[in-house]
Amino acid sequence: MNNTLISIGAAAIIGGSSFLGAAAIVAAPNTTKQITFAQVKKNNKSTSCWTVVNNKVYNVTNWINQHPGGSARILALCGKNGTFMFDGKHSGQSAPENVLASYQIGVLKKRN
Ligand code: HEM
Repeated sequence: MNNTLISIGAAAIIGGSSFLGAAAIVAAPNTTKQITFAQVKKNNKSTSCWTVVNNKVYNVTNWINQHPGGSARILALCGKNGTFMFDGKHSGQSAPENVLASYQIGVLKKRN
C-alpha cells in the first residue's frame, strides 16, 4: 500500500519535470550577454525580478507566482546575488536547476 502511494508521488514529480523541461526549451536562454550588477540591482521588484546565481543572470519574474516553495522566496532574490539562497536550498537538485537555466538572460559582467 505504501509502495503504491510512493509510485504515484514519483509519477507526479516526473510529469512535472518534463513540463518544466519543455518550458526551458521555449525560453531559449541567453548565455552570453554581459550584464552588470548595477543593472541587476535595478530589477528588484515583483514586476521585474532579476537575480544572480553563480555569476549567471536570470530574469525570474515569471517564476514568482509559480514557485512550489512560495513567492516570498523568489521575491527575496530580486535585484540581489541569490547564489547562497538558491544553492543553500536547491544545489544539486535537477528540477530547480533546470527551471533556473530556462530563465537565464546573460552572464555577470566582471568589473575592470
Ligand atoms: C529562482 C530560484 C529558484 C528556483 C528556479 C526554484 C525552483 C524550485 C522547484 C522547481 C521546486 C519544486 C521541486 C520539486 O518538486 O522537485 C522548488 C521547491 C521549493 N523551493 Fe525553490 N526555487 C528557487 C529558489 C528557492 C529559494 C531561494 C528557496 C529557499 C531559500 C526555495 C525553497 C523551496 C522550497 C521550500 C520548496 C518546496 C519543496 C522542497 O522543500 O524542496 N527555493 N523550487
